[in-house]
Amino acid sequence: MAIVCKSTVEIEKMRRSGHVVRQVLDDVRRLVVHGATTMELERAAEQKMKDLGAKPAFKGYYDYPCVLCTSVNEEIVHGIPSEKRVLKTGDIVSVDCGVVLDGYYGDAAITVPVGEDVTPELRKLLSVTEAALYRGIDQARIGNAVGDVGAAVQEYVEAHGFSVVREFVGHGIGTRLHEEPQVPNFGTRGRGARLCQGMVIAIEPMVNYGKPEARLLGDKWTAVTADGSYSAHFEHCVAVTRDGPVILTQ
Ligand code: MF3
Ligand code: CO
Repeated sequence: MAIVCKSTVEIEKMRRSGHVVRQVLDDVRRLVVHGATTMELERAAEQKMKDLGAKPAFKGYYDYPCVLCTSVNEEIVHGIPSEKRVLKTGDIVSVDCGVVLDGYYGDAAITVPVGEDVTPELRKLLSVTEAALYRGIDQARIGNAVGDVGAAVQEYVEAHGFSVVREFVGHGIGTRLHEEPQVPNFGTRGRGARLCQGMVIAIEPMVNYGKPEARLLGDKWTAVTADGSYSAHFEHCVAVTRDGPVILTQ
């Protein structure tokens, strides 16, 4: 399947699905408190999607069981919400959410500290990961290469002493959750597919406090850091336009 470039009308539709994703994440963020379970976040997200007339994008995708991915501490991505996973002060939880509205997908992620007692080191991991996402977004310009996005993310992350995960990457998005091209969070400037007007990409750096390697848990979904270090994840959908990068998930 080739890279699909979207019309202005299509990008407007994707802005609507992106806005739903943002409203879900805004609700969920407020529920991230000491003592909450990740299943409570899941249920709130599912209800909010219904209220806003959108369908979940993740549930049923390769048999994934939930509408959110909730990845706590050393979990990198694709953590499955559970009644048994109780959040506690000092944890960090990545919440990844996707919806489809009017045939178009939206996908975004945030990582939220639980309580006020999150260490300065972890706060730095969160702020560097989010800032790295914005470094990548700034490269989402007509004529740039996918490698420009990845290189910008990687350089920023590594300059701060953290590492980027290689096993999971960002992606094109539109009438399917995952379209071409793949958008790695590492790379070489000038390399890879060229960005053209109307492309929409999900940029989603996953950043580890320690080494970059990941491994999969027995549930076959949850990816964790191989060294047990903490990991953060932020994601936006971005349209490549004549006016530069436009974030659709805000
Ligand atoms: N944001 C992630 C991605 O684009 C979440 C996918 S979860 C899945 O890969 F369940 F849908 F696989
Ligand atoms: Co994604």
